[in-house]
Amino acid sequence: MQILKTIQELRDFRAKCSGDVGFVATMGALHAGHAQLIKTSVSQNNHTIVSIFVNPTQFLPGEDLSRYPRTPEADIKICQLCQADAVFMPEVDEIYNQNEIKILAPKELSSTLEGVTRPGHFDGVCTILTKFFNIINPTNAYFGKKDAQQLIIIENMVKSLFMNVNIVPIDIVRSSDGLALSSRNSYLNDDELAQALKISRSLMKASNLIKAGELSSIEIKKAMSSILEPLRVDYIAIVDKNLNPVDKIELGNSIILVAVYVKNTRLIDNLWV
Ligand code: PAF
Repeated sequence: MQILKTIQELRDFRAKCSGDVGFVATMGALHAGHAQLIKTSVSQNNHTIVSIFVNPTQFLPGEDLSRYPRTPEADIKICQLCQADAVFMPEVDEIYNQNEIKILAPKELSSTLEGVTRPGHFDGVCTILTKFFNIINPTNAYFGKKDAQQLIIIENMVKSLFMNVNIVPIDIVRSSDGLALSSRNSYLNDDELAQALKISRSLMKASNLIKAGELSSIEIKKAMSSILEPLRVDYIAIVDKNLNPVDKIELGNSIILVAVYVKNTRLIDNLWV
């Protein structure tokens, strides 16, 4: 497995790839969820490139950019174990200059849900992915459904800018007790981890209610809120695949999303119904 630091090294590596190239974009602190993305890419492509880059433009002032977990040695081992062919780990000034063009996520998709507390976040995501797609020119790019809004915005960007890459959504990976894996889980102590389990339990409750025939968004949200108590809920939303709120669950076309603070850590999770 090659470790690439510069854009030139990445371009040279890419030029030697033949057949399909899979790309997994990450910010490091890799866990089993990322491993699932990498393994799927390896199984579906001739070559797999993983990027590890804590992208500063998707963090707002006051967010956790400086304390975001950085575990490069462990990340490289995971990429090796998953049989990635190359890891791209650039420095920030290799990627960003001054006075650059930005790719803006559409307001309708980026100003709701995560966008309410994180305005501009998805512009940073779109900008970095445009850069990476341009350098790597991947055949397939793999993204977790855990970041549902991110996934929908990326699909929109690829479609509207005619980008020549196939976006492959991958199911959420959970710990044995149900917690959706996230690099930010590393901020939680044991007590907070136990509290965080309420999030997946609330989604499980929603799933059971739906299976029993309850399709009303109000009723489902009510049941979820009571499970999430006393955590500080940022939002519980039930939306369609354009992120528009729906009053009634439509099977195959609805997503239930939750954002919750466990102490100071903001966690998200969702269920694609
Ligand atoms: O989901 C993430 O980890 C990041 O938003 C991504 C896609 C790697 C872009 O920096």
